[in-house]
Amino acid sequence: KLKYRINIMKRALTETVEGQFSIIGELKNIFKKSLIKSYPESSDFNIEVVISSQPKYGDYQCNSAMALSKILKESGTKVSPVEVAKTLIGNIPANEIIELLSTAGPGFINITLSQKFVVRQIANMCLEGVSPPKVDKKKVVIDFSSPNIAKEMHVGHLRSTIIGDSLARLLEYLGHDVVRLNHVGDWGTQFGMLLAHLNDKYPDYLNNPLPIGDLQAFYKESKKRFDEDAEFKKRAYAAVVELQAHDPDQTKRWQLICDTSRKEFQKIYDRLDIKLTERGESFYQDSMKRIVEDLKQKNLLVYEEGRYVMFPQKEGLNPLTVVKSDGGYTYDTSDIAALCHRLEVEKADWIIYVTDLGQSSHFESLFDCMEHAGYIDKNRVRIDHVGFGVVLGENKKRLKTRSGDTIRLVDLLDEGIKKSMDKLIEKNRDSVMSPEELEQAKTSVAYGCIKYADLSNNRKGDYIFSFDKMLEDKGNTAVYLLYMYTRIRSIARLANVEPKQLLNYAKNKGIKIEDPKEIKLAKEILKFYDVIQKITDDLLLHSLCEYLYNISTVFSDFYDSCYCVEKDRNTGEVIKVNMDRMLLCEVTANILAKCFDILGLKPVNRM
Ligand code: ARG
Repeated sequence: KLKYRINIMKRALTETVEGQFSIIGELKNIFKKSLIKSYPESSDFNIEVVISSQPKYGDYQCNSAMALSKILKESGTKVSPVEVAKTLIGNIPANEIIELLSTAGPGFINITLSQKFVVRQIANMCLEGVSPPKVDKKKVVIDFSSPNIAKEMHVGHLRSTIIGDSLARLLEYLGHDVVRLNHVGDWGTQFGMLLAHLNDKYPDYLNNPLPIGDLQAFYKESKKRFDEDAEFKKRAYAAVVELQAHDPDQTKRWQLICDTSRKEFQKIYDRLDIKLTERGESFYQDSMKRIVEDLKQKNLLVYEEGRYVMFPQKEGLNPLTVVKSDGGYTYDTSDIAALCHRLEVEKADWIIYVTDLGQSSHFESLFDCMEHAGYIDKNRVRIDHVGFGVVLGENKKRLKTRSGDTIRLVDLLDEGIKKSMDKLIEKNRDSVMSPEELEQAKTSVAYGCIKYADLSNNRKGDYIFSFDKMLEDKGNTAVYLLYMYTRIRSIARLANVEPKQLLNYAKNKGIKIEDPKEIKLAKEILKFYDVIQKITDDLLLHSLCEYLYNISTVFSDFYDSCYCVEKDRNTGEVIKVNMDRMLLCEVTANILAKCFDILGLKPVNRM
């Protein structure tokens, strides 16, 4: 078996990378350089580097030699994968991160990180915290939550709210300029019936505060009349036309309905600590006319059965309805206008939409049409539809109340609070914690577990909502991880080591990492940046949750066998503190805290 030691001391470094970064990303760069030197004719081949499946295969692996050999063969160069692997290894430029490279099996390349590099990166983290990797700063617009006025916010909107907030937090951590937009459904024909019904039911709405406690019921009443009463239907249509013509009375009624909804939504956002800027469909009313004209002028609209539609270029996609037969605009039209606004006015480099997967084809059509219209330049702007699956109940059917109604989010959050308190009492935590601590732990656990259960599942799948599962204290759950965090934080506290002392130690002495379990933990810590890179690319947050769980397990392993604090058996007095290991605890806790921060979880000191 061949092993190649890259001696960083003897060879001059071609490049030093500063700060923290994804190791996979950097290894790919290094291999790319070798590829260009080794096989210039295949230099655009995409080299893959992954985290090793087993420790015996090193820390990372490059499995590209097999595919590369095939490609070379097709273009007339016959080299075996093993030879390709050896050539690639031979041309790896001098670098600071690889210690050892070896080939294995049919052409795998195993990569072991330089110990010196690992220690240096961890030392930097002791001094600077979990600093973000360097990225090109972008203007990002993220459209999430976006419930519909007058309808209750449902669990689908809850998913959008949780996922969108976490993505925004990730991008903010990376230093991007993030605009969090709530594209509420505050316009459209459904308002006709609401306005007409409001006028009938509460004619004195201007002088009396609106007595609508339950907008959902109000919506249902209006809908019933709309469906059953032709005369009412007529008036509803007239009301929309009046509203769109900015009739002051109708506008006032519309405002009242929106305000009532807004207050309800805000309660949810406040409880979950979610910041959003409302910019609903109505905001784009005036620009729609201009854009529709532009599309007509560009000959992009097709007149079909009284409507103007726009056909996507890609086959199999539905057309967008841009103007309805009554001359009104639609959800599609407002999305066209919103996209233009985000590109032209917000000058966004990156636009993200977070909705259920049911709207995938809507967004595919939208992006296709807008690119064709010349509004989107795909080389400059990144656009993602972040879709997610359905929330199911424990019976694997759509989550509903027993009577079959949609579950109100306030009720769901209340139930979470109650269940998390029950759990804390069941574990007798109320006897050791102060009332304030208990209160904090209760909300941290309740909202944390709701968010975490959502985020730890691959968003593309449906997910089963179960308080019993999410409140379990074992496995990949918020409760386990939040508890783990308090445990790690308490190590230094119980050893009477102040954060300042740790910092001074790191400044003066650096950090020593020697024991295999220490090294394993250190390498696991550095994978944080690989995960950050991955989730920035695929926007799948569950990888961060998997990482959070893995690092907790690796930490437990380390903590079980590496003494951090030695105490006198009889007196319990602290005899010896291993400061290097204390630093590892500190960095691990900081990594956990950073992950929680990105996921929108709030750890507590005691629970
Ligand atoms: N209001 C829509 C709904 O409840 C979601 C809006 C998503 N954002 C957008 N720009 N279309 O389904």
